[in-house]
Amino acid sequence: MNSFPRILILGSAGQLGQELLRSFAGTGEIIAAHRHQADFTAPDQLRALVRNVSPSVILNAAAYTAVDRAESEQDIAAAVNAQAPGVLAEEALRANALLVHYSTDYVFDGSKTEPWVETDPPNPLSTYGKTKLAGEQAIQHIGGRHLIFRTSWVYGPHGHNFLLTMLRLAIERNELRIVDDQVGSPTSSLALADATRTVVSKVLAQPSSSPALWSGVYHMSCSGSVSWYGFAHAIFARAQTLLNGKLPVVRPISTSQYPTPAPRPRYSVLSNQKLSEQFDVRLPSWESELYRVMEVLSCAQSSD
Ligand SMILES: NC(=O)c1ccc[n+]([C@@H]2O[C@H](COP(=O)([O-])OP(=O)(O)OC[C@H]3O[C@@H](n4cnc5c(N)ncnc54)[C@H](OP(=O)(O)O)[C@@H]3O)[C@@H](O)[C@H]2O)c1
Repeated sequence: MNSFPRILILGSAGQLGQELLRSFAGTGEIIAAHRHQADFTAPDQLRALVRNVSPSVILNAAAYTAVDRAESEQDIAAAVNAQAPGVLAEEALRANALLVHYSTDYVFDGSKTEPWVETDPPNPLSTYGKTKLAGEQAIQHIGGRHLIFRTSWVYGPHGHNFLLTMLRLAIERNELRIVDDQVGSPTSSLALADATRTVVSKVLAQPSSSPALWSGVYHMSCSGSVSWYGFAHAIFARAQTLLNGKLPVVRPISTSQYPTPAPRPRYSVLSNQKLSEQFDVRLPSWESELYRVMEVLSCAQSSD
C-alpha cells in the first residue's frame, strides 16, 4: 500500500473479519471493532464510531448471516444488512474514505445454468438475500468511493460454517444426508481476505484515479463449482487425520428432502471476470483453498 492508511475493520470477530485482521496486518493502522463497539442496529452508535476513528478505509465484514433465522427476524436483518451499510456509505462519503462491503450470491434466484455476472438482474428468494441487496443499493445510491464484493459459500478455520459443521457432525454421526441439487463456489475466508487486500492496495496506490472508474459491485469467489454434497465429499476425503480416521457415510439428497425456512438458489456460481479485468485479481480454486484451510486446521490441532 502506498501510505499507512487508518483501516477500520467492522465485524472483526466474524469468520471473514478475523481473516481481514490477519491479511491486512502491517498494511496500515488497524482499528478492529465488533458488536460491543458498534451495534449495527444502533445507527447513531455506528456513525459516532466511524467519526471517532476517522478511517481512510472501512472494511465492513459485519452482517446478519443467519439465513434461516432472518425469516423470523426481518427487522433486525434489515437494520444490519440494509440500513447500516447506508450509514457507513454516508460516513465514508463525508470522510472521503474507501468503503469495502460484502454481499452474497443469494441476491440471485438461481435460475441460470451458467455463472452469474454483475449485470444479471437480482431476484433474491429469502429475507437474507433481500436485505443484502438493499444494502448494496443503499451504498450505490449514496455513492462515494466503494467496493461491493459479492461472494458465496464462505467457510474457514473460524466461526460457523459448513466445513466446521461437517467435521463436528462426522464425530457425532455415522451417516450424513447432504443436499446435492444446490451448486455454488465454496470460498475460503482466507482467499477472500487476501483478494480484498490486493484490490484495496491497488486502489490506494492510485489516489487520483476517479472512483467512477472502479467503484461498484464485483463478484469475488473461488473458482470452480460443486454441490453441497460434493463439497462434503471433498472435505471428508481430506479430513482423515483431523477425524482420526472416523469418516461418516455421505448420502446425496434433494432440496425437497431438506426443507429450510429460507429458500436457497439452485445455482449461484459467480463469474469473476469483471474482478479479473478491472484489478487483475483471480481467486484460487475451491479445491486448493479447501486444502489450505485443512492445513491451517491440522496445524492448529497438532499445536493444541
Ligand atoms: N457466510 C457465508 O456463507 C457468506 C456467503 C456470502 C456472503 N457472505 C457475506 O460475507 C460477509 C462476511 O460474512 P461472515 O461469513 O464472515 O459472517 P459471520 O462469521 O457471521 O460474521 C458476521 C459478523 O457480523 C457481526 N454482527 C452481526 N450482527 C451485528 C450487529 N447487530 N452489530 C454489529 N455486528 C454484528 C457478528 O458479530 P458477533 O460475532 O458478535 O455475532 C460477526 O462478527 C457478510 O457480508 C456476509 O453477508 C457470507
